[in-house]
Amino acid sequence: KTYEDLYKFSVNNSDDFWGELAKTRLDWYKPFSQVSDCDMNSGNIKWFDGGKLNVSVNCVDRHAAKHPDKVALIWEKDEPGNTEKVTYSQLLAMVCKISNCLKDSGVKRGDRVAIYMPVSPIAVAAMLACTRIGAVHSVVFAGFSADALAQRIQDAGVETILTTDQGVRGGKVIELKKTVDAAVQKCPSVKRVFVSKRTGENAPKTNLDIDLDAAMKTASENFTPEVMDSEDLLFMLYTSGSTGKPKGIVHTQAGYLLYASMTQKYVFDYHDGDIFGCVADIGWITGHSYVVYGPLSNGATTVLFESIPTYPDPGRYWEMVERLKINQFYGAPTAIRLLLRYGDSFVKKYDRSSLKVLGSVGEPINHEAWEWYHNVVGDGKCDVVDTWWQTETGGIAVTPRPSGPNDKIIPAAPMRAFFGIQPAILGSEQEDLQGVNEGALCIKNPWPGMARTIYGDHERFMDTYYRPFPGHYFSGDGAKRDEEGFIHITGRMDDVLNISGHRLGTAEVEDVLDEHPDVAEAAVVGVPHAVKGEEAFAFVTVKENFSRDHETLVKELQGLVRERIASFAVPSQMLVTEGLPKTRSGKIMRRILRKVAAGQVDDLGDISTLADPTVVSILIRDSNFVF
Ligand code: PRX
Repeated sequence: KTYEDLYKFSVNNSDDFWGELAKTRLDWYKPFSQVSDCDMNSGNIKWFDGGKLNVSVNCVDRHAAKHPDKVALIWEKDEPGNTEKVTYSQLLAMVCKISNCLKDSGVKRGDRVAIYMPVSPIAVAAMLACTRIGAVHSVVFAGFSADALAQRIQDAGVETILTTDQGVRGGKVIELKKTVDAAVQKCPSVKRVFVSKRTGENAPKTNLDIDLDAAMKTASENFTPEVMDSEDLLFMLYTSGSTGKPKGIVHTQAGYLLYASMTQKYVFDYHDGDIFGCVADIGWITGHSYVVYGPLSNGATTVLFESIPTYPDPGRYWEMVERLKINQFYGAPTAIRLLLRYGDSFVKKYDRSSLKVLGSVGEPINHEAWEWYHNVVGDGKCDVVDTWWQTETGGIAVTPRPSGPNDKIIPAAPMRAFFGIQPAILGSEQEDLQGVNEGALCIKNPWPGMARTIYGDHERFMDTYYRPFPGHYFSGDGAKRDEEGFIHITGRMDDVLNISGHRLGTAEVEDVLDEHPDVAEAAVVGVPHAVKGEEAFAFVTVKENFSRDHETLVKELQGLVRERIASFAVPSQMLVTEGLPKTRSGKIMRRILRKVAAGQVDDLGDISTLADPTVVSILIRDSNFVF
C-alpha cells in the first residue's frame, strides 16, 4: 500500500514478490517450477528454475507485435543532430538477419561471441542476436587495447568476433578493425570476424573477415528463437578485481532480465512513451542494463549515445536532451564535474523541460556536482537518483527511488535499498553493524540480478564475494549508515581504482609495469582528481644496472600500459625511486605510498612497522621528481 509496505513484502516474501513479477513481466515458453533456489554459502544460485524463455523475444518480438512502428533505438551519432531511428519491427528484422548470419557461419548455442563495436544499432542488434541463438556475448569496450581484447578472447575461448571498420568519437577516428586484427594474431581460437561499416574508410582485411552488411542483405528476416533455460548463460562482462587478471562476470537469462527491467522502470519512474537517455557505453554494465536490456524489455525508446560530453562543445548533452526530448537522463559524475567547470550557459541555452529524472552512476558523486545537476541541469524540478550498483549486481541495488511520493532525497547518497535487496554493513569481526555505523557493504539475501560466477573460475568468485563475510554477498565497497538509516558509500575497500567511472585494478597496471626489462618492482595507488575522481600514480624501482634517464623510462612505461590495457589506465604520474616501503613480511605499505602520491609527506602516520625506515626519506626526496 505504501512504498515501505511493498519494500517489506519484497524482502520478507521474496519468492512471492519476484515470482509474480517474473510471471507477469516476462514472456515464457514454459513456466518456471521454482522461484529461487539459492545458497549464498556455496554460491549455487538459481532463479526461475525450469522456466524456458528467449531474451530477444522479450526485448523485441513482443513489442514489435504490439507496436511495430514505435521507435526502439535513437542512435545519436558522433556528429550532433545526426540521428538514426530504428523501430521495433526494424530492430526485429536486424536481429533475425544477424542471427541467421551467425548461425550460417557455424555459431552455436553456448558459444562465446566477442563484440568490439561502437555504441550503435548494429551493436545492440548483435547482442540481441546472440541471445536469440543462445550464444553468450562478451562485449569488450571499444577503448581497450589489442592486448586487453586478446586476453578476454582467450579467457572465454571466443571463436567469433563482431566489429566495425572504425569508430568515431569526439570527431576522432578509432581503428577498431586494426585493433581486432592485432588481437586475433594472438588468438588461434578465432575462426571468423564479422565486420560492419561505420566510416567506410579502408580498414585492413584478413581471410577471417565476413562482411556483415553484405551478409545481412541476403539473410532472412525470420529466425526461430532458441528456447533457453532460465539459468543458461546470457552474457559475460569483464571487470577488474584486485589481481592482475580481469574477471569474466557471468549473468544468466531470466533473473538478469527481470532485474534490469524492474530497476529501469521503478528507479527512473519510466512510463510508456518516455524517451530514455542513458549515455553509457555498451562496453560497460550500465550500457548492458540501461541502454539495452532494461529499456528494451520494457518496450521503451532508448538513446544510443556514440559521442562524448564535450563534442562539439560542453552543451552536447543538453542540446541532445532538447532535440530528442529526453525524459530520463542517466550519466556519470565525472562528466557532470567536467561540464560544471564550463559554467551554466551551456546548459541554460537549451530547453530541458522534458527531463523528469536525472541519474548518476559508477562512482561517488560529490556535493558540488550533485547540486549543479539538481539545480542547474534539472532546474530544481527533477529527482536526482544517485544509484549504487556493480557489474556483479546486474542492476541498481541502492537508490533514492523508488520510495514514497513525499520521501525526501538527500544529496550525494544512494540512500535506500531497491525492492528485494537487504543491504548490511559488516564490521571487521563479521558482525552485522546496526544503527549509525561504518563498515563493509554487503547484501544479505539473494536477488535475481546477482552474478552467478566468474567464467571458468568459481573458486575466485567464492573467494571474492562470498567467503569474506560468510552467508553474505560482499561488494568490495565500504558504506556508512546515517542517523536516518540512509546508506552512503565510502569507496572501495580493495585495490580497485575508479578513474572517470572506469574500474581498474592497481595489480593490472603493476603487472604491466613489471614486464618492462628495467623495472624491478612497481606499486600503483590512486590519487584523488577533481574531475576524474581518481587517477593512477605509479611508483617504480629500477634494476641495479639501470642508467638511462627517468623521463624516457616513464614514457616507455606509459606507452606499455596504453598498449597492454587502455589509455584510461595510463598512470598520470610516476615516480622512479630506489625502494618501496615494506613491512617486515615484505608487504608493500600502500598507505604510505598514497600519502606520498597525494603530496602529504608530513603526515605519513605510523611508520614503525617498516622493515627499512630509511626508504621513507628516500621517497620524500624523490617525490620532488614526479613525472
Ligand atoms: O565502487 C563502486 C562504484 O563502482 C563500482 C562498480 O563498478 P562497475 O562494476 O564498473 O559498475 C559501474 C556501474 C554500475 C562499485 O563497486 N560505484 C558505482 N556506483 C556508485 C559507486 N560508488 C559510489 N556511488 C555510486 N552511486
